[in-house]
Amino acid sequence: MNVSASRFGKQRTIDQSIDFASAGPGTPGGTFLRQFWQPVHLSATLKAGTAKPITIMGEKFTLYRGETGTAHVVGYRCAHRSTQLSTGWVRGDNIQCMYHGWTFDGGGRCVARPGERIFGPVDNVGVPAYPTREHLGLVYAYFGPGDAPAFPPFPDFGPEGVVENFAHDFPCNWFQTYENQIDEVHIAFVHSFSGSHQALGRELKLPDTNAYETPYGMVRETRSGDGPMRSTLYLLPNTMRIIIPTFNGLNHIGGWRDSFLTLVPTEDESHILFMTQHAKVSAGERPKWQEAWDAFNARIAASPTPRAVARDVLDGKYTINDVLDHPLLLVIEDAVAQQGQGEIVDRSLERLGRTDVGIVNMRRVFEPELRAIAEGRPTLNWVYSGEPAVRGF
Ligand code: FES
Ligand SMILES: [Fe+2]
Repeated sequence: MNVSASRFGKQRTIDQSIDFASAGPGTPGGTFLRQFWQPVHLSATLKAGTAKPITIMGEKFTLYRGETGTAHVVGYRCAHRSTQLSTGWVRGDNIQCMYHGWTFDGGGRCVARPGERIFGPVDNVGVPAYPTREHLGLVYAYFGPGDAPAFPPFPDFGPEGVVENFAHDFPCNWFQTYENQIDEVHIAFVHSFSGSHQALGRELKLPDTNAYETPYGMVRETRSGDGPMRSTLYLLPNTMRIIIPTFNGLNHIGGWRDSFLTLVPTEDESHILFMTQHAKVSAGERPKWQEAWDAFNARIAASPTPRAVARDVLDGKYTINDVLDHPLLLVIEDAVAQQGQGEIVDRSLERLGRTDVGIVNMRRVFEPELRAIAEGRPTLNWVYSGEPAVRGF
């Protein structure tokens, strides 16, 4: 395998004191992630008039969708005596606490205190509220200071086609899944069970890889033999855009998917992989796609979750070869590898090789940003641009 690492300067070791894993409030990583809109939920599974608790980057919040259809993220606890707001009722576009009926609007302002006979906005009484928007099937929120950055965080897809969304939760740190997404070599091994490497035209032939810094983060280019280049975008801090053959059962309609994947930490030991993918399904193919999509989701609902299967495989109860018919085999393969590294991988134990160039380069992009935050300096202005590409798409 040939590997080059242009634009990243001389080889040097990564500072082992750099903390890539922590995402809680006040940590450099958490501060960095909070500078960007983050997906927090699938739009389709947040029904109008319902509320639920969510945990994002080590903090708890209340997510609800008003009866008007508008999604809101507000604080986790009621401003009165702190019970959990998500257990209350959605009233119009407001949420009412189940304990004594205090009611808050989507901006967090208290608009009713029934026991006090106070109806209407109450100054200086409220819960925190966070800008909340929806884009391409995901609910996004902004948890950082000051004004939220421009929305949407990523452009829309082309006009023809459908958008498919997934959310998979992993019981391990987000950054190790991010590193896995940079690691092109894993495809030939981890995904040999599902055979997705064959869809990439690889068999077990390893690709040549190049990775370099861009105005949005990093691009990784891979080439198998004399084939065309496959380029994948890494949009700082926690999103990638990639063109992929999708899961079994769907890839026969709509071709390869142009996909955004964002990894959102829940706790430091867990994260959710949000996936938004565009399938080029024509109007005529739409009924066939809908049928396949519904059947696929029904199979997922009837199957154990990838994280549970991965846990059983890691505990030696069975092997991946025993679950080859699972609809999310691709996710299971990755989950086994990442959960197998432990909840938070100990990077001081690793022995990196030339094929890890993309991972090393991404750490080199992150390192100065985390250092800047730790030292109170501003980070760079990462600007989205560019398009991914691959043969066969
Ligand atoms: S704790 Fe919410 S109204 Fe009393
Ligand atoms: Fe993978």
